[in-house]
Amino acid sequence: MIYEGKAITVKEIEGGIAQLNFDLQGESVNKFNRLTIEELGAATDALKAQKNLKGLVITSSKDSFIVGADITEFTDLFAGSEEDLVANNLKANEVFNAVEDLPFPTVTAINGMALGGGFEMCLATDYRVMDSKAKVGLPEVKLGIFPGFGGTVRLSRLVGVDNAVEWICGGTENRADAALKVGAVDAVVANDKLVDAAVAIINQCNEGKLDNLARREEKKGKIKLNAMESMMAFEISKAFVAGKAGKNYPAPVEAIKVMQKHAGLTRDKAIEVEAKGFAKMAKTNVAACLVGLFLNDQELKKKAKAWEKEAGEVKLAAVLGAGIMGGGVAYQSALKGTPIIMKDIAQAGIDLGLNEAKSLLTKRVSRGKMNADKMADVLNSITPTLNYGDFKNVDLVVEAVVENPKVKDIVLRETEDQVREDAILTSNTSTISINLLAKNLKRPENFCGMHFFNPVHMMPLVEVIRGEKTSDRAIATTVAYAKAMGKTPIVVNDCPGFLVNRVLFPYFGGFAGLVRDGADFQKIDKVMEKFGWPMGPAYLLDVVGMDTAKHANEVMAEGFPDRMKDENKSAIDVMFENDRYGQKNDKGFYKYELDRKGKKKKVVDEDTYKLIEPVVQGQKDFDEEDIIARMMIPLCLETVRCLEDGIVEAAADADMGLIFGIGFPPFRGGALRYIDDMGVDKFVELADKYADLGPLYHPTEKLREMAKTGKKFFG
Ligand SMILES: NC(=O)c1ccc[n+]([C@@H]2O[C@H](COP(=O)([O-])OP(=O)(O)OC[C@H]3O[C@@H](n4cnc5c(N)ncnc54)[C@H](O)[C@@H]3O)[C@@H](O)[C@H]2O)c1
Repeated sequence: MIYEGKAITVKEIEGGIAQLNFDLQGESVNKFNRLTIEELGAATDALKAQKNLKGLVITSSKDSFIVGADITEFTDLFAGSEEDLVANNLKANEVFNAVEDLPFPTVTAINGMALGGGFEMCLATDYRVMDSKAKVGLPEVKLGIFPGFGGTVRLSRLVGVDNAVEWICGGTENRADAALKVGAVDAVVANDKLVDAAVAIINQCNEGKLDNLARREEKKGKIKLNAMESMMAFEISKAFVAGKAGKNYPAPVEAIKVMQKHAGLTRDKAIEVEAKGFAKMAKTNVAACLVGLFLNDQELKKKAKAWEKEAGEVKLAAVLGAGIMGGGVAYQSALKGTPIIMKDIAQAGIDLGLNEAKSLLTKRVSRGKMNADKMADVLNSITPTLNYGDFKNVDLVVEAVVENPKVKDIVLRETEDQVREDAILTSNTSTISINLLAKNLKRPENFCGMHFFNPVHMMPLVEVIRGEKTSDRAIATTVAYAKAMGKTPIVVNDCPGFLVNRVLFPYFGGFAGLVRDGADFQKIDKVMEKFGWPMGPAYLLDVVGMDTAKHANEVMAEGFPDRMKDENKSAIDVMFENDRYGQKNDKGFYKYELDRKGKKKKVVDEDTYKLIEPVVQGQKDFDEEDIIARMMIPLCLETVRCLEDGIVEAAADADMGLIFGIGFPPFRGGALRYIDDMGVDKFVELADKYADLGPLYHPTEKLREMAKTGKKFFG
């Protein structure tokens, strides 16, 4: 044994060749935490001290090579000063440089995933062989940073600027064939041949057939471009990447600037440039928010896992109502492997649901994501029916009939009589209280909400809603089924609108108020899109549908009359009264026309302005800040109330719900994180400026208390 640590062991395997193996004790994956980097340094020292070694193979005995840096260490690390961050990076880079400078040929054998720091480890060796099923990449930009263990330096020299920009700025995970094609790896083999292939490369180096030192010098030298080529490569990609990433995500463009700056430098100086750029990005609020988001997501996964342990098995599901949502649920369940019965009262409904599933599957087949046999299997696992024939075999039912409490009451009671006593009954209602729907059920303990978002196959969130009488088993089984469908479940308590719609409607309230006071709805959309929302509120209302929005608004007003009841007619009411339902019938705040590709395109409709004239009472031209404040304060305050009322268990649940459910700008981390970042005291101060607008703008007592005591939602 040459070295033995808790993450790394080094031993001689054959003919003077050493193997450095990553196997982080007590963890399911290898990651670059502080310990692993320290041990890599010590192991490299031990290797240097050995006499007569002929080569080194680096391996992992986990399913994946190394999944990346340990992100749980980022929050503390990034809290340090920029100088400390630079120093920290340079210290870590000394270790990677030492690996690169070892006095014999080095090869990494890549299995599973080698991402971020894991792939930077691979880049430090002379050669890379890769399992044909493995993936490699540098996804750091997804956390608002870029590679900091020499990745921008080595990759740009190894595969050229254009490819490096594509990999680093896109944060892509790249398959073996793609990696081989650009020269990021040198050979692709089956998993069980990895070490043999690595040893063969080392032997060839020692026989003089391969020149590993020339390889090394290429990585350590300057980028081989003349001034003109360099200008073309960097300037064009900067413009392209800036357009794609947008102003709110600075890391991809900064990565290019850093590569441009170090293009003419050799390794050690180039790494200094990278370290400085990295530290600058790590100190941005975007990085803090995106890292926070990653950690929140881990928390959610942990919670879901705990529920899954208590879950009953769902071998067969059923959905009631084959409409937009029912069809989507059937498709998603079947696609992910849980057969499902799809019941409707009308053949037309069933045809619609099946056609939707067929068209989604056809798209998958045409994109090469699925073959025709698999498509047939998926379709066959959806059983359409007009009666309750097989319901005795069903483990979980999703009710997705029309949003009407009376109809739902009848349908749920009827279903309860048809299923086994242990079957779980859920409702996809968007707004109706779960306790209300449970009232007339015989087994309310087996009932909860399972709120999907439209379109079901695209939207990641499922709210699992616990009623007063819902059992843990019902929640656990529903959470597990949502996971099996590939969704992110968040467990919330019952109230009108649950978490997401309860928070969304005050935001629409903010919108209605702005329009009433004279703001141009198109300007509001533009400002909120610039703020980071995928679409502005008027456009979103068109997508949701004015009838749905109006109905949900009424439920919310009844549930929270103190702040959500509005006696005045709003622009949304006007749209509804004029049959402008939005995208459904191609007319809402905007008009919708088909573009050349047959896709719906929104166009300005001057009629809208004429129609809403009677409800516009003011003539103020609002500036951006005003618009943002009037839109965001009601949304944020309602999120605070959801946390205070125990609708969500934790701040992280609330923020993730908004990001996954309504596309809250991820780089802002969520509503509560947004308040934290502004400073709770500053937020309260800002809200107080708008107090005249009514209770939607009035902070809770607890929030005022937090403002006084300096408490935050996170950390
Ligand atoms: N559309 C959305 O954006 C959205 C999002 C989340 C949740 N939801 C909720 O999902 C539910 C369904 O909404 P949708 O938009 O799919 O409606 P939809 O009108 O498209 O579909 C409803 C379907 O239910 C069928 N139906 C009516 N009575 C039935 C019964 N007794 N048994 C079986 N089927 C019956 C109808 O024939 C129709 O096919 C509602 O509760 C809605 O609030 C909708």
